[in-house]
Amino acid sequence: MSADDTARTIEIQTEIETAAALPALLARAYARYSNFAVAAAIIDEHGAVHLGVNVENAAYPSGTCAEQAAIGAMVTAGSRRITRVLIAAGSNAVVQPCGACRQRIAEFAADDCEIVSVQDGITTKRAPFWSLLPDSFGPRDLD
Ligand code: THU
Repeated sequence: MSADDTARTIEIQTEIETAAALPALLARAYARYSNFAVAAAIIDEHGAVHLGVNVENAAYPSGTCAEQAAIGAMVTAGSRRITRVLIAAGSNAVVQPCGACRQRIAEFAADDCEIVSVQDGITTKRAPFWSLLPDSFGPRDLD
């Protein structure tokens, strides 16, 4: 097996294991007001996994999304490039990132970044991230 094949096999394995772990993470979501738990996992360019859940607040707009928490965890860990965002919802429905989180993901998304839906611990739908946020404003606009 070539080095590239080995790297790809590890990527796939990481994604499968991360998807399987997401349903349990939903129990940590703090979704007291909407009762809509969300768990997200970012896989960065090094294959490291960064987790997040939504954290709501009595002052509703102060609540934060699962993707937002995962991005914070990734940046805190020292990573800067997102290759996959896995998302699971307590409802078990396919959930795509909200508009604000698409913008947050765009800041760090690799060219081939994918949004991967997880249902029952298994990956279902996949979407190329940049198809969800075409013609976006980003870091390059400020260079
Ligand atoms: N939510 C997320 O955490 N991520 C999404 O992609 C969609 C929505 C949260 C925000 C709020 O806590 C709850 O889901 C209902 O909107």
